[in-house]
Amino acid sequence: MKLAVIGTGYVGLVVGACFAETGNEVICVDRDKAKIRLLNNGKIPIYEPGLEELVRRNRAEKRLTFVTGLPEAVKAADVVFIAVGTPMGEDGSADLQHVLAAAREIGRSMNGYKVIVDKSTVPAGTAAKVRDVIKKETRHPFSVVSNPEFLKQGAAVEDFLKPDRVVIGADDDRAAKIMTDLHSPFTRTGAPIMVMDTTSAEISKYAANAMLATRISFMNEMANVCEKFGADVDQVRKAIASDRRIGSAFLFSGIGYGGSCFPKDVQAMVKFAADKKYRFRVLEAVEQVNELQKLRLLEKLEKQFGKSLKGKTIAVWGLAFKPRTDDMREAPAIPIIKGILARGGKVRAFDPAAKGVAKRIFGAKITYATSAYDAVKGADALLVITEWNEFREPDFARVKRLMKQPILFDGRNIYSPRQIRDAGFIYASIGRA
Ligand SMILES: NC(=O)c1ccc[n+]([C@@H]2O[C@H](COP(=O)([O-])OP(=O)(O)OC[C@H]3O[C@@H](n4cnc5c(N)ncnc54)[C@H](O)[C@@H]3O)[C@@H](O)[C@H]2O)c1
Repeated sequence: MKLAVIGTGYVGLVVGACFAETGNEVICVDRDKAKIRLLNNGKIPIYEPGLEELVRRNRAEKRLTFVTGLPEAVKAADVVFIAVGTPMGEDGSADLQHVLAAAREIGRSMNGYKVIVDKSTVPAGTAAKVRDVIKKETRHPFSVVSNPEFLKQGAAVEDFLKPDRVVIGADDDRAAKIMTDLHSPFTRTGAPIMVMDTTSAEISKYAANAMLATRISFMNEMANVCEKFGADVDQVRKAIASDRRIGSAFLFSGIGYGGSCFPKDVQAMVKFAADKKYRFRVLEAVEQVNELQKLRLLEKLEKQFGKSLKGKTIAVWGLAFKPRTDDMREAPAIPIIKGILARGGKVRAFDPAAKGVAKRIFGAKITYATSAYDAVKGADALLVITEWNEFREPDFARVKRLMKQPILFDGRNIYSPRQIRDAGFIYASIGRA
């Protein structure tokens, strides 16, 4: 099939490359000229495991091309994916300006029947809005489909190639059939393709993220209570995870969720429920808990050093909102580092992938270490903020030798408290005595 993908961010680029991999001809469009130039020079603007090879192979086979002009891509395509950003608006709602702008331009570029797919995460009722916008611009027939994306950054390629399920919101059979055929190579192992109405598909995406965020905030509050009682939230986690009704995924306590999806999607769901005069109290709390949880390591620093961090150097391991990505959108590292700087402390940070992104946020305000060990040189405390694999089993004797004071606050509970204390550190984690 001939496809156009509008927006070559974390989602659009993965979607485009994976559809090219199954033999489709894909034109990816982005209005960001620098991004397209980079992609046409064989470089990948983001860090995502496996993506570079996929893009290289499919470009070489001429199944994947990158352009800045939307009309040429749409004219050549049978199916057009809208994968542009839907950032949080000022009132917490999903800002649809990029989606609707893309829809308008698609409408103007129509030259025959096409399926227009909302791949971006969009609130209930958006498919109808996209349909209206396109209808104003063209007399050609078209279908609008909602096809939410469930991939996880850091495992995006694998998630797309082997999805748990594919959700297709389609209000007509022709579009549903085209979308089912397009996805069938990815579901041969039996993952279901679920066809439903567009609004249910739109809400499914928010429901998935809202549920996952709820589990995280729930476990973070559980950790805070465990800490008060000197209990161990890891034991509590195991005890409940073995209950098949609960399961083990997404039950780890830490310093809160970040990224481009959970924070904005939780708030957008609250907002679009409110638009229908429904107050989604659980999700309001999920969001509030998460904001407070991001500050837990600052509380631990304050307990250790007092309100001022003047003269103190704090080493930070991990800047990205989660491992295996360079994305720092809504990352807990941001308020934590700002808090340290506001208290007069210095920061030496290391992240295996997010240094470039961090430089755009913090500039010369912090020091960017070249390795985990470089970060701890002369540090008064070490904060583990992102659970990259390479932080899991460091040479603790070396870390201790390099630090000014052996103080380690583990925001992701990746170490065993006994092991770290035996290594001679003052150690605190989240919800564990
Ligand atoms: N990042 C994720 O893990 C993830 C997962 C599932 C769903 N989503 C959703 O997918 C959507 C895209 O997310 P992302 O992380 O890829 O965003 P992103 O910000 O990384 O990328 C969006 C891209 O769209 C481009 N763009 C915007 N308007 C355009 C236009 N009119 N024409 C051409 N290009 C345009 C931008 O230049 C940018 O490169 C969002 O709605 C997001 O919520 C994201």
